[in-house]
Amino acid sequence: MHLQTLSSSALALLLTFNAVQAKFSVLSWEDAYKKADSLVSQMSTKQKVDIATGVGWQNGLCMGNTFGTEDPYFPSLCLQDSPLGVRHADNVTSGVAGINAAASFDKKAIYERGAYMGREFRGKGAHVQLGPGMNFMRSPEGGRGWEAHGEDEFLQGVAAAETIRGIQDEGVIATAKHYILNDQELNRTTSSSDIDKRTLHEVYLWPFARSIEAGVASVMCSYNLVNGTYACENDYLMNTVLKGELGFKGFVQSDWQATHSTAKSVNAGLDMTMPGDIVFFSNDSYFGKNLTDAIDRKEVSEERATDMATRIVAAWYKVGQDKNFPNLTLSSFHMEEAPFVDVQANHKALVREIGAASTVLLKNAGSVLPIDPKKTRKIAIIGSDAGPDPYGLNSCASHGCSNGTLAQGWGSGTADFPYMIDPLAGLTAAFGKNVEIKSTLDDWNLENAAKVAKDAEYALVFSNADSGEQHITVDGNVGDRKNLTLWHNGDALIKAVADVNKNTIVIIHAVGAVMMPWIDHPNVKAVVWPGLQGQETGNSLADIITGKVNPSGRLPYTIAKDASDYNAKPDPNDVVEYNEKLLMGYKWFDHAKIEPLFAFGHGLSYTKFDYNDLKVKAKKHKDSISVTASIIIKNSGKVDGAEIIQAYIEFPKDAGEPPKLLRGFEKVFLKKGKQDKITFEFTKTELSIWDVNVDGWVVPSGKFTLHVGASSRDIRKSVSFSL
Ligand SMILES: *[C@@H]1O[C@H](CO)[C@@H](O)[C@H](O)[C@H]1NC(C)=O
Ligand SMILES: *[C@@H]1O[C@H](CO)[C@@H](O)[C@H](O)[C@H]1NC(C)=O
Ligand SMILES: *[C@@H]1O[C@H](CO)[C@@H](O)[C@H](O)[C@H]1NC(C)=O
Ligand SMILES: *[C@@H]1O[C@H](CO)[C@@H](O)[C@H](O)[C@H]1NC(C)=O
Ligand SMILES: *[C@@H]1O[C@H](CO)[C@@H](O)[C@H](O)[C@H]1NC(C)=O
Ligand SMILES: *[C@@H]1O[C@H](CO)[C@@H](O)[C@H](O)[C@H]1NC(C)=O
Ligand SMILES: *[C@@H]1O[C@H](CO)[C@@H](O)[C@H](O)[C@H]1NC(C)=O
Ligand SMILES: *[C@@H]1O[C@H](CO)[C@@H](O)[C@H](O)[C@H]1NC(C)=O
Repeated sequence: MHLQTLSSSALALLLTFNAVQAKFSVLSWEDAYKKADSLVSQMSTKQKVDIATGVGWQNGLCMGNTFGTEDPYFPSLCLQDSPLGVRHADNVTSGVAGINAAASFDKKAIYERGAYMGREFRGKGAHVQLGPGMNFMRSPEGGRGWEAHGEDEFLQGVAAAETIRGIQDEGVIATAKHYILNDQELNRTTSSSDIDKRTLHEVYLWPFARSIEAGVASVMCSYNLVNGTYACENDYLMNTVLKGELGFKGFVQSDWQATHSTAKSVNAGLDMTMPGDIVFFSNDSYFGKNLTDAIDRKEVSEERATDMATRIVAAWYKVGQDKNFPNLTLSSFHMEEAPFVDVQANHKALVREIGAASTVLLKNAGSVLPIDPKKTRKIAIIGSDAGPDPYGLNSCASHGCSNGTLAQGWGSGTADFPYMIDPLAGLTAAFGKNVEIKSTLDDWNLENAAKVAKDAEYALVFSNADSGEQHITVDGNVGDRKNLTLWHNGDALIKAVADVNKNTIVIIHAVGAVMMPWIDHPNVKAVVWPGLQGQETGNSLADIITGKVNPSGRLPYTIAKDASDYNAKPDPNDVVEYNEKLLMGYKWFDHAKIEPLFAFGHGLSYTKFDYNDLKVKAKKHKDSISVTASIIIKNSGKVDGAEIIQAYIEFPKDAGEPPKLLRGFEKVFLKKGKQDKITFEFTKTELSIWDVNVDGWVVPSGKFTLHVGASSRDIRKSVSFSL
């Protein structure tokens, strides 16, 4: 069998990329501020306010547009959705969702995904990409969880930072969003997320902190309130934490209609209002004339206006938009009026690779997978999720419906598909002419499904579960999912197929965890979890099913045995209390000693890996701290493949931390029989806790244990050290 993994081809892409990287120089903030100071010093108060004010909903060509200035010149900025590709545009790539970027646990692939998206936004003349998202899967039902990177702060932090580096290296301003605690769709504009400072810092702020270290040039404040104050007028969150503690130098923009005041917001740290009008189409604004009036009345200082403008202009210089910036060729609300500018290049190859690299093999009894096309005569493909949308490509605005295969959730976090390789098409191409493929895409005719499945060597049965943003309701789901079961009769369909075919392979495209009442059916031999793979979904899946790519994706969230095992749900109360504190996802399951169905970090391979010789060196002198670890990983199986080595830290007992925390991971590709030494370095960032008594980070003293393994519940080696 010929196995190929992302590593080698990703390396080739990386080399190509390095060759062109000189195109855009990403300036330091210091240099960007020098240039910005000089430009802004020539601006009037009105001009400073204009570049911070959106022109109003649908008054420009992009989802958000600022007013430009003539003398001195500063352009009208174009701010465009989404975190996974250019929204409302033709001739763009619509690739894997954020949750798949996370599931790859592959830093290079995540960076490359950010970089190709950056090239496409810039190619269309968009200055600002409205992504990446970094809200949490606090509960599996949360509607927009799939746009971000799951339930763990460390994984969120790596995924956010690599994505941002990729986007900004290509000359586009990235947006870390939504700041903060916007983890459910229910009542998102009216409810208050109430949280203690330790949880805020250790969990929810973490990815924003890593984003700022990566140089992110914009942050978007969210719709919800935090401890009773709107996020976009929250002095503690924007001034004290973001710009103070974290040292953020770029600009804070509001979510669309999330600004609620003039002086209060601006003095609390809001730098730009989007889309500009108070409510869509109202043509008034809290900024614009209201803000210049507030400055005249000294409710807002001139100095603050200068600061706002400087942050916006500095962001623009930082990513090199003052030179050779392409003309704007988007027309978001009249796509037919936009000139065709093809920015796709060969990005589909990367989408296909990341799609395969983020596919999680949950179960593979008796090594039923991979399926060798040369040794196979007949397979069955069953379920509407295997096929195209019968109503056509992009049949519903913002993917706000569920027909055919699922490759993206719904809402503003989407991009139209330029085409779609559905699983039936991808598998048919991969299996070739010599394999007979029988299919039915009807989820409800169980008798027919059983008939199709019965005499095939393998029955591949598909189902899905969708969610999205609350402004669209799909099948009674107002953004958040109303349950954790499969859609479209999925459970009954799987059972009907498994009852007649002893090589049943279940494939589920889901936004997050689903319940699997059929998991112990003896004929359900394999479960494949491709997530949301975008336009190349069928090809990515076929690469895994046929063994062209050896799976290495890992779950970025916990799949429970029972929905009641989770400790949080979308909360209908006006105050959403984050009472579970640090115990999100696997941390709760560890703490409460609940056995998950599939653990955070779980994912199987077609080969196997041995973990040996874990060593750790720890040193602590007054203010300096150094902890390094190494482990030998050997591919002891029969085929080449990549392993995701995960490092979890158990803190001293009295530190008050969950049982263990992910604090490092590496992906390593190894040919069969080969081994390699993997090293980890843990710094103050990974080893600190937020001490409420000093309102700061401290490294606790005492005995730590480092656990290294293949998932949060598959620890292979542990070693203790003291600090
Ligand atoms: C660009 O998009 C238009 C409209 O969807 C389509 O007709 C055309 O074929 C596309 N061109 C390319 C090069 O993808
Ligand atoms: C929110 O309010 C609670 C209760 O007053 C307080 O303990 C907590 O520190 C506040 N959180 C933040 C982030 O200020
Ligand atoms: C709102 O402003 C836009 C742009 O200035 C203008 O075209 C439109 O007519 C205005 N709408 C209303 C209702 O005043
Ligand atoms: C100023 O803000 C108020 C709301 O506080 C709004 O009613 C008014 O239309 C705004 N003025 C302008 C010129 O946009
Ligand atoms: C951009 O637009 C300007 C003004 O319309 C035009 O002169 C210029 O040629 C365009 N540049 C490109 C690269 O299309
Ligand atoms: C499938 O698409 C049709 C046509 O757009 C729509 O009426 C229906 O609600 C969709 N089904 C689901 C489950 O979204
Ligand atoms: C859960 O929601 C989905 C999607 O709306 C629906 O198809 C399914 O029937 C629901 N399940 C139950 C048990 O209500
Ligand atoms: C929150 O949602 C619940 C359920 O839909 C509703 O009853 C309640 O009024 C909402 N609360 C607010 C503050 O909007």
